[in-house]
Amino acid sequence: MTTAGTQSGTGRIGILGSGQLGRMIAIAAAQLGIDTHVYAPDADGSPAGAVATTTTTASYEDIESLRRFAADVDVVTSEFENVPAATMQVIGEICLASPGVAALQAAQHRIAEKTLAAGLGIATPRFWQVGSLADLSVAMKALDAPAILKTCRLGYDGKGQVRISPGDDLGNALAEVGSDDAILEEMIGFDGEISALLARDADGHIMHFPVSQNRHENGILVRTVAPAPIVPALEEAARTAAAALAEAVNLVGLLAVEFFVATDGRLLFNEMAPRPHNSFHWTIEGCATSQFAQLARVLAGLGFGDTTPYGRWQMDNLLGQHMKDVPALLSEAGTHLHLYGKPEARQDRKMGHVTRRLGD
Ligand SMILES: Nc1ncnc2c1ncn2[C@@H]1O[C@H](COP(=O)(O)OP(=O)(O)OP(=O)(O)O)[C@@H](O)[C@H]1O
Ligand SMILES: [Mg+2]
Repeated sequence: MTTAGTQSGTGRIGILGSGQLGRMIAIAAAQLGIDTHVYAPDADGSPAGAVATTTTTASYEDIESLRRFAADVDVVTSEFENVPAATMQVIGEICLASPGVAALQAAQHRIAEKTLAAGLGIATPRFWQVGSLADLSVAMKALDAPAILKTCRLGYDGKGQVRISPGDDLGNALAEVGSDDAILEEMIGFDGEISALLARDADGHIMHFPVSQNRHENGILVRTVAPAPIVPALEEAARTAAAALAEAVNLVGLLAVEFFVATDGRLLFNEMAPRPHNSFHWTIEGCATSQFAQLARVLAGLGFGDTTPYGRWQMDNLLGQHMKDVPALLSEAGTHLHLYGKPEARQDRKMGHVTRRLGD
């Protein structure tokens, strides 16, 4: 693979997307002497655009703008997995594209990613494809237990999901989800949720991060504790599963995988994202190399950085409703405060995060 940077840091990374993940990739790249170019429909003044070297504000369907963007950089990555396949194809004809089409296609669709995992021998919650009310009735009858109905595409932070119990009105549930491309999953009783993250380079070498333990409220990540206080066998199983998935899609870049640790002890695949992940923001202060720096290093061909953790860490997301706490956090000792520069503090919108060191 030709790479974006050199040891002297002269390369240029293109980033699709304008949010906080793009912002933190751009900041990490800048620290390594690498320029960034952010491309998004709302790039100007956005969280990512505000810290990038250059921006292009254009739609993901604008072929001419995409071509100019790709010609201006050495490699393009994406802060979100829902990039249209055609967008990546246009880019891939001109420069290197990470994480690769197979990784995006799998991660864009909940049934595709669970089918991929199951095919690799990675356990998942039981699931059914739902395209109609008839499908949903058949699936609920087969399951006969609490479930979650989710859109297969474009869901995030628990959006596009509805919980169903036997006896509920299934028509209402389907209308609420509003999609004829949906998945019904059994509701897992879990002791906890964990996520694994790895970086994979163009030669297929893999570097893992310590596994994170996560708590969600209303489908939104609220707190991560890392390294996860779990038995080594569970950590090993999560890493092995993540590596198998990365290899299966020939990933170049980062792959995050979310799991449930079921009450019966089984590790169950939930979903994967071929990009930096909210549950690894703690690596900015907590690891020798952050997830963002690792991605920039892989894209620039600088080799992996060390991912040894500096003790135990906690990361709390700052949602719109938490912004009133910011003045107090600014004066709290030992707190690493990150704000994403989003103007409007809406309920449940991710505005920033706070990282604290818990101990050795
Ligand atoms: N089958 C399930 N059983 C139990 N809990 C679930 C199940 N599916 C989802 N959840 C809960 O809802 C949360 C969000 O679900 P999921 O990860 O599928 O959605 P998402 O919208 O893609 O989330 P995010 O973007 O925050 O990762 C999970 O982390 C978990 O807490
Ligand atoms: Mg999730």
